[in-house]
Amino acid sequence: MILVCRHLEHQPGLVKPTCHIPVMPEAVQEVLQPARGGFFVDATLGGGGHAEALLAASEDVRLLAIDRDMQAIERAKERLAAFEDRVIYAHAPFSALESLVAEHHGGPVDGILADFGLSSDQLADRDRGFAFQQDGPLDMRMDQSTQKTSAARLLADSSEDQLETWLREFGEERFSRRIAHAIVHQRRFGPLLRTSQLADLVERTIPSGRGNIHAATRTFQAIRIVVNRELDEIDAFLHATPPLLAPGGRLAVISFHSLEDRLVKVAFRNEVRSGNFKNLLPRGEVATPAEVRRNPRARSARLRGLERLTPEKG
Ligand SMILES: C[S@@+](CC[C@H](N)C(=O)[O-])C[C@H]1O[C@@H](n2cnc3c(N)ncnc32)[C@H](O)[C@@H]1O
Repeated sequence: MILVCRHLEHQPGLVKPTCHIPVMPEAVQEVLQPARGGFFVDATLGGGGHAEALLAASEDVRLLAIDRDMQAIERAKERLAAFEDRVIYAHAPFSALESLVAEHHGGPVDGILADFGLSSDQLADRDRGFAFQQDGPLDMRMDQSTQKTSAARLLADSSEDQLETWLREFGEERFSRRIAHAIVHQRRFGPLLRTSQLADLVERTIPSGRGNIHAATRTFQAIRIVVNRELDEIDAFLHATPPLLAPGGRLAVISFHSLEDRLVKVAFRNEVRSGNFKNLLPRGEVATPAEVRRNPRARSARLRGLERLTPEKG
């Protein structure tokens, strides 16, 4: 996916066009059914691909578009300019969904989408520090304006035990102890400030990754999750969302690794048990091989859908 974006890297100008390809666009439309119109929320605007499809589905769709990354909002605003009068932008974390909906809509909503993780735009921008394949500052904050702790700060300030726990729990990294030890050892010689320093250190410390997976993949995932409190964000989102849905309202969620998907699966199961919701995709839906060929990022995606049932009259 980084290759897809490379041609955009050296373009001058304030706002680069997005290089993010939306995952499972048709299946998302099928879950959310925007052609019926109504008030929708895209909790992870990113490059605006899903948002554009929602807005194009009906002139009666209004959209609250949320992203905690201001650059994503600026970029998507250009893409969605034709729908300007039907979109409200919110630069905020999606854990604040309840108050954002109260502020901008004030009533039940017809559909909500969350497409977790990073966009290809974020990964491709070396200055954001998300990717181990290219050198950049070890930053990894999705919102550089409000989040104080960068990845470099986290690696400088955390104990070996803490690092080990994060690598094991959020990276599902088998060699968590070795890597945590190496990070703390390395600190004696100077701070880890660059993505290439961390990637090289992991490569030197553990056996090379299996298949196509770089040895540092899991470490970068774990650190990014901690920097952005990603699982707390998802947990808060999953608690806030179901009560916001109107009867017949639908929620579509795309996750990209087992930690995310587990949270979604359990939250949906609990909602279904309450008797007020229906699981639209009990096993989740994955991308077709053709889509994965076109968009390798879709490889690990799993879409889940939930519908708020209409109470029976009488
Ligand atoms: C996978 S991209 C979304 C791509 C989008 N669906 C599209 O079609 O282009 C994920 C986006 O969600 C944003 N994001 C991730 N976690 C967030 C959070 N907790 N609150 C708000 N935005 C978040 C990221 O900044 C990123 O722009």
